[in-house]
Amino acid sequence: MDTLVIRNPELLAAALRGLSLPQKRMEPKWFYDAQGSALFERITDLPEYYPTRTEIGILTAEVDRLAAHVPEGAELVELGSGASVKTRLLLDHLTGLSAYVPVDISAEFLARTAGRLSATYPDLPIHPVVADFTLPLTLADEGHPRVAFFPGSTIGNLDRDGALALMRSVRRWPGVESFIVGIDLIKDEATLVRAYDDAAGVTAAFNLNLLHRMNREIGADFEPDRFAHLARWNAEDARIEMHLVSREDQTVRIAGRLFRFAAGETIHTENSHKFSRGSFAAMGREAGWNLRDFLTDREEKFGIAVLGRD
Ligand code: AVJ
Repeated sequence: MDTLVIRNPELLAAALRGLSLPQKRMEPKWFYDAQGSALFERITDLPEYYPTRTEIGILTAEVDRLAAHVPEGAELVELGSGASVKTRLLLDHLTGLSAYVPVDISAEFLARTAGRLSATYPDLPIHPVVADFTLPLTLADEGHPRVAFFPGSTIGNLDRDGALALMRSVRRWPGVESFIVGIDLIKDEATLVRAYDDAAGVTAAFNLNLLHRMNREIGADFEPDRFAHLARWNAEDARIEMHLVSREDQTVRIAGRLFRFAAGETIHTENSHKFSRGSFAAMGREAGWNLRDFLTDREEKFGIAVLGRD
């Protein structure tokens, strides 16, 4: 007799809910277990995946222009703080910061990042916050100005209502003066699709890892070879969608429940919204922010928006 081990009850609840919907879906946050995070790091190095290197290029070229938007004594709050290459670029140039506050859902990851950063910046107080940044985050009034930093176009994972809710919640933080947001820009469909369907198959492995993860953590019996990676451009909603497509009729068992898949049926695993300067400014305005500055690369592949509270 096999013993069913549920290592991750939250993932189980999400799977039972998401896979019962008429259009099966899972939130992209479930991509990022240890394997998924490592695969994402590999994605950022792919020739087809331009966003990371383009954003780093803009930050490098325009760091002084960004620094002008960060008041003396400000606390820098980074949402979904990643491997911190971008953070280091900022921290190297923003000399008058009173503190750096990385916010991430993974306590383990945060502790490691915070440890490494305090070795490089011994005089900068680092106050990690474990939180899901897709939920409203409340920060205490500490009497200093705040600047929020949300790079990577991660805001593109949220739907419009989710993005508006996040922007409104940041706007309510005590002392917040500006919000620096990285956004991927709308461009030709072929370039967009290639960035999410690379020749080496790393993005396919990243998407399919979700099935392996459900097998590992909630005892699901997915056979990942019976699913295919799909990336497609949804022009109407200006987003890349990732799906896992069932290659045939099949049934999957999770915690004693059966989930049927028809051939061609999909699990919708991610939206990655793309913006124009204008569409992002309009969304910001709806959340009470003004576009103060907009930095981009020469080919206008990626943008860094500086939103102001006034
Ligand atoms: C981390 C959400 C910005 O949408 O481009 C990369 C995730 N998914 N390849 C993105 C991702 C597939 C990435 N974000």
